[in-house]
Amino acid sequence: MINTVPKEEIEKQYEYMKKIKDLGLEKTYFIYTMGCKLNENDSEKIAGMLTEMGFTEASTVSDADIVVYNTCSIRENAEEKVFGKLGELKKQKEERGTIICFAGCMSQEPHVIEKIKKSYSQVDILFGTHNIYKFPEMLYKKITEEGKWFDVWNIDGEIWEGVPIKRADKKSASVTIMNGCNNFCTYCIVPYTRGRERSRKPEDIIEEVKGLAEEGYREVMLLGQNVNSYKGREDYNFANLLSDIDQIPGIDIIRFMSPHPKDFKDDVIDVIASSKHICKVIHLPLQSGSSKVLKSMNRGYTKEQYLELVDKIRAKVPDVAFTTDIIVGFPGETEEDFEDTLDVVRRVDFEQVFMFIYSVRKGTRAEKMEGHIPEEIKSERFSRLKELADGMVDEGNKKYIGTIQKILVEGESKTNSEVLTGRTTTNKIVNFVGDKSLIGKEIEVRIVSQHVWYLKGETI
Ligand code: SAH
Ligand code: SF4
Ligand code: F3S
Repeated sequence: MINTVPKEEIEKQYEYMKKIKDLGLEKTYFIYTMGCKLNENDSEKIAGMLTEMGFTEASTVSDADIVVYNTCSIRENAEEKVFGKLGELKKQKEERGTIICFAGCMSQEPHVIEKIKKSYSQVDILFGTHNIYKFPEMLYKKITEEGKWFDVWNIDGEIWEGVPIKRADKKSASVTIMNGCNNFCTYCIVPYTRGRERSRKPEDIIEEVKGLAEEGYREVMLLGQNVNSYKGREDYNFANLLSDIDQIPGIDIIRFMSPHPKDFKDDVIDVIASSKHICKVIHLPLQSGSSKVLKSMNRGYTKEQYLELVDKIRAKVPDVAFTTDIIVGFPGETEEDFEDTLDVVRRVDFEQVFMFIYSVRKGTRAEKMEGHIPEEIKSERFSRLKELADGMVDEGNKKYIGTIQKILVEGESKTNSEVLTGRTTTNKIVNFVGDKSLIGKEIEVRIVSQHVWYLKGETI
């Protein structure tokens, strides 16, 4: 049974936010966000709570009175980075009494908590992924009482609603529709840090998206570790949710991340095919092209099933494009297995490939597997995959030249205010010279050339 945190508990947290605001502290905050979009969305809620408490966002960490590290455990290098940053803050804490908060997936790992207790005494507040909504209470106690507040829950996880949010992006809004994961891919730490899979109620999600449309958002990104196992009710799945969101006036672009290939059912494909708003670029994490490796990763599909799924989606959604995640150097991966991965990459012709070198995670099943691959072989395979994928992305971009593309104009380019920037329905960045009145509008442009990071267009 999935619990919903009672309204009274959230109201209690609003009382703490008010109490802190009434202290009139005039302090500033800075949040470091690592990891995935779910973490980014959590940070938006942490920022929402801090704003409600009367704090303002600092432009740099050195100007901040409260620093929150919202951490990620997915790969070792992500973890190491945080400890480096924590070290840098020690002096600042001594000089201006900065309050240091440690949150996110790393907080859910016992060895991390041990390490912090032992060697990082500068951390004042530590909370996990399950009790983010209790941050105001912890911060209030830290401000008004002596001591440290470390609180991490080892539970399956709950759903909580109604926490304030300060959105980082003014054009695209992230909406977490579910949390946790039950898949236990053998390499992955997420099921341990985020708990069991749990879906928000359809009416809460729909109300949030309607509110976003009223605020002027035209794009939403639906988030979850495995969105197509969303279950809002016994008779309400991801396809139902997509089709209900598709009807909300004002929302023109709907994206979602990530679907799991093993749960990508026909009803979802049909909704995508018939929708005008659902983005036709689908992130479909492959992880490996070898059926043997996929089995040992516990992914629940074979190479052939993945390719069949791609074909099935292409048949129903002709203009679809795919992006993917791939891990190289999983334990036991032979040269032949790796060739299978390259084969799938060639056959699917991905728009973009996010590549990762396998990183051992404590407590996962793969940690104990035999056949760990030496670092130099992992990097050599990584380079080969990168070369193939880069070449294909380059070829893919060439296909756009001369075509007319519908784009949503997002704003001025970061590097040149004369140039506007937008994205195609397949998520390609298009830069073009145009009048600023076009910002926020959907227009057609002709693609004239392709560059490493973007396509160049002209208005028609
Ligand atoms: N729920 C998503 C993945 C979230 S993690 C899914 O199932 O697709 C994002 C990506 O990080 C994964 O797709 C995987 O490619 C990569 N990843 C996860 N664990 C990893 C590990 N131990 N080493 C290297 N890459 C990893
Ligand atoms: Fe990790 Fe697999 Fe769950 Fe994705 S589906 S979060 S890779 S366990
Ligand atoms: Fe990282 Fe946690 Fe996301 S481990 S990828 S922040 S769910």
